[in-house]
Amino acid sequence: MRQRPKPRLRLRPPSRRPRRWANRFSKRCAACHTIDKDGPNGIGPNLHGIVGRPVASHPGFAYSGAMKAKGGVWDAAALDIYLADPMKIVPGTRMAFAGVIDAADRQALILYLEDQSK
Ligand code: HEC
Repeated sequence: MRQRPKPRLRLRPPSRRPRRWANRFSKRCAACHTIDKDGPNGIGPNLHGIVGRPVASHPGFAYSGAMKAKGGVWDAAALDIYLADPMKIVPGTRMAFAGVIDAADRQALILYLEDQSK
């Protein structure tokens, strides 16, 4: 009996996913944010080390009252919730961004943010 060909794996290994976001970050976030170490603040704060950073804690950035009042730490779970719908999760935020709707997309984005902070 001949062996059947193995089904092709459709999922990419998670470690390769953040790479897709290199391009997307520049399209969707870089108008307002830098991610490189010691990068300047723009319309939004520099995001280097954002995963695990306390909310509204980047020196030299003037956060909105809404963001300062949020409290907590940007762990992966908090980022996942926020990035889905920023203006709903932090009403009054100055981050005028509609959100990343797809959950797998957000996951990849958060991995990318983590990756860029190494
Ligand atoms: C139109 C400009 C703009 C875009 C586009 C934008 N942001 Fe922001 N972002 C801001 C501003 C402004 C703030 C500060 C919000 C405040 O103080 O209310 C912010 C805050 C944040 C914070 C919280 C930072 C902290 O130090 O507490 C995160 C995380 C963040 N943005 C991630 C992203 C990501 C990821 C993208 C792309 C998917 C993105 N932003 C797109 C303007 C933007």
